[in-house]
Amino acid sequence: MSQAYPNDIPYPPVFHREMTPVWIDAVLRGLGQEGPDLAGAFRWCELGCGPGLNAVVTAAAHPAAHVTAIDLNAAHLARARAWAEAAGLPNLETVQAGFTELAEAPPDRFGPFDVIVTHGVLSWIAPAEREALLRFIGRFLRPGGVVYAHYMTHPGMSAAAAGQRLARRVAARAEGGPVERARAALAFQARLAAGGAGFFVAHPQERHRLEASRRQDPAALAHELLPAHWEPFHVAEIIEVLGRQGCRYLGSATPLDNIDAVSLPAGTLPLLAGLDDPALAETVRDMARNQSLRRDLYRSGGAPLPAGRHWQALAELPLALLPAAPRRGPLRFDTPIGPVQGEAALFDPLLAALRRGPCRVGDLARHGAHPAQLNQAVQMLIWSGCAHPVRSPLPDPQAAWRLNRALCASGVGWLAAPALGSALPVAPELMPAVAALLEAAGPEATAPELATPERLRDNLRAWRAFGALPPEG
Ligand SMILES: C[S@@+](CC[C@H](N)C(=O)[O-])C[C@H]1O[C@@H](n2cnc3c(N)ncnc32)[C@H](O)[C@@H]1O
Repeated sequence: MSQAYPNDIPYPPVFHREMTPVWIDAVLRGLGQEGPDLAGAFRWCELGCGPGLNAVVTAAAHPAAHVTAIDLNAAHLARARAWAEAAGLPNLETVQAGFTELAEAPPDRFGPFDVIVTHGVLSWIAPAEREALLRFIGRFLRPGGVVYAHYMTHPGMSAAAAGQRLARRVAARAEGGPVERARAALAFQARLAAGGAGFFVAHPQERHRLEASRRQDPAALAHELLPAHWEPFHVAEIIEVLGRQGCRYLGSATPLDNIDAVSLPAGTLPLLAGLDDPALAETVRDMARNQSLRRDLYRSGGAPLPAGRHWQALAELPLALLPAAPRRGPLRFDTPIGPVQGEAALFDPLLAALRRGPCRVGDLARHGAHPAQLNQAVQMLIWSGCAHPVRSPLPDPQAAWRLNRALCASGVGWLAAPALGSALPVAPELMPAVAALLEAAGPEATAPELATPERLRDNLRAWRAFGALPPEG
């Protein structure tokens, strides 16, 4: 265990829709908060960006914005720069530095940033590095700027902390590179579980987690098990430490978690009534959901939008249907507390309107839903992947096409979709077809095998509509 964080194995590219400015903007509108000016020259920064997939997608979708991707690992940033060069992204800056060094940077070195995001970092680094990361936020987030913070949480991860401690000790004694050591740690835990260890008897979910870990990407697994520091936090602790940096908790970037009625067991709802302390209320929610991770939004200063402007901000949000939306029939949301049936009287007219093409939330209001009800319905459609906010006007997609060619060549299963300000997944079996389409980049890209499978046809329509692939013909 010589290093605090493993940097001898690259972390795989993983896309997180919740970190994109477009997503953050839509969730903030739902929460009655002002979002970043998406068409403007906003500054977005990712701390601990890994190979930079989220940063390059954001840079390609927002040519007027400035994107800063920061990481300690030179190999990660080399990957991000290679994609940026292939796509021709002049608006992406990569910075190789640790948080301790960054926190001491001269005041004019960075920002001020409109948005700072960090995913997969806070729970994985040493306390001194975490404090430095938070100081960086305090120093370089502009007043009114927004923070997206992802971390592992009590109580859902309380037991997992014991397993991780054991795993990293076993890994430290094992032979081989990071992947072999991580695998040795898993194998040891599996033997412990098979031997009837009380820990796995008392915490059956940890046995499931162990089984799932064996199917995980080996590099991601090494980053999960080998850091010398790994800890879940109580939401109240993060509210407090970000509060010291002048940031106030707004809500979750997972829209479902902002709607108590569909994310908490009904019997727990009365306990939240009248709780005006956000740290206490969020702690109750975490207990009620047995929350294991959080993707939270904070703001430096600023005030909620007054009621009239809240509705206006929401009404102006343009939405489009995604291929995951059901073509017909009832809408069922698989929430962490079980399946929730979408009320037909509310959702059917919304889906019917969206099937005719993208429209603004204000246009959906014509179907009679009360604004608060419509707000929740929209947030649920976005959370479930049935709908997504769309950029208006659409940015020039050329950089995204070039980026997508480079992503396909690297075997990354995501396509930048600039109309969504996001990326859409590509199943591995569809990758060769997509690569062929991007290479041909024109009407001749209708290879016979592409015309057949229904799923590919649906996806193709969406990829083209959202600027991930050149249009047909
Ligand atoms: C688990 S990865 C997450 C990558 C990416 N954010 C994602 O979610 O896909 C954690 C990242 O934090 C970076 N990191 C760890 N300690 C750091 C430090 N002290 N300063 C800067 N980056 C650090 C690692 O190199 C790694 O890329």
